[in-house]
Amino acid sequence: MHSVTVTRQVWDRVLAVRSGHACACCGVWSEGEKGALALYGPLARRDLTPMVVAQIGQSLDGRVATVSGDARDVSGPDGLAHLHRLRALVDGVVIGVGTALHDNSRLTVRLCSGPNPARIVIDPKGRLPDDAPALRADGARRLVVQAVERPRIAGVEVIRLPLVDGIFRPRDILSALQKSGLSSLLIEGGGITIAGFLEAGLLTRLQVAVAPLLIGAGPASLTTKIPHLKLADCIRPDTRVFGLGSDVLFDCGLSPDASAATLPIHAPAPTHAHRSASSLS
Ligand SMILES: NC(=O)c1ccc[n+]([C@@H]2O[C@H](COP(=O)([O-])OP(=O)(O)OC[C@H]3O[C@@H](n4cnc5c(N)ncnc54)[C@H](OP(=O)(O)O)[C@@H]3O)[C@@H](O)[C@H]2O)c1
Repeated sequence: MHSVTVTRQVWDRVLAVRSGHACACCGVWSEGEKGALALYGPLARRDLTPMVVAQIGQSLDGRVATVSGDARDVSGPDGLAHLHRLRALVDGVVIGVGTALHDNSRLTVRLCSGPNPARIVIDPKGRLPDDAPALRADGARRLVVQAVERPRIAGVEVIRLPLVDGIFRPRDILSALQKSGLSSLLIEGGGITIAGFLEAGLLTRLQVAVAPLLIGAGPASLTTKIPHLKLADCIRPDTRVFGLGSDVLFDCGLSPDASAATLPIHAPAPTHAHRSASSLS
């Protein structure tokens, strides 16, 4: 397991990688700082975008909330800081309307320095109220992906997509966001939304942050629609494990893009690096 120490110096370097002004390999770093560069450096690179990373915070028993729906702070403080760092590294954060309604998520970067990403809510039936925190005007782009004709408040961009068998095809969502200029995306939840992108084979990485907490009952973090009957058929991702402090992070590579991104940061990008999402537009 790699330890992760995010000092001011190392985070400034990661943000410089994000803006294309630095590499993440040179310099003298402690072991924990090297862990931070290994974790965040690949996500900050812009030469390998489009990058689609999903993150879910869960308990030891794989749950994201209690039976009464209490979902606040399943992740510990370091898991939450990690989530904010992910937000700071992507162009846009995607959530399902279930999370937007339940959590009143703001999706802003508050626990580290860095830019606020665009906020995207998948809301096919137009259920999200206009005063939802995710739609608040604060300088960041706000987008809603919907199937219905439903006017939104000024400044909120609407992407209309058709439903196919009652849902949006995740590939159509990615393609539309890419056309809107949003290449690197964080799929932040909830489980229904993440599972849709996972089953469609569209995730570059899946990050599962496990907090030392036993909830006992309540919603599971990820449930796919199509079950595997044999363990041999299940996804066994190429996984790196990072100790964040309060939480343990399983950083799972799911595509060739992920392998390419964890190569030494100064290496030229392999030609297959743009495979998954570049073919979407
Ligand atoms: N621990 C964590 O990391 C974490 C993160 C986020 C959320 N959460 C928790 O997760 C819970 C909510 O998650 P959830 O899984 O129930 O809901 P969700 O994924 O937030 O939202 C699901 C809804 O979004 C819409 N949607 C998503 N993908 C779609 C697609 N491809 N096509 C059409 N519609 C799509 C649908 O809306 P319609 O129902 O209108 O059709 C769907 O029912 C909350 O309790 C929240 O606290 C936990």
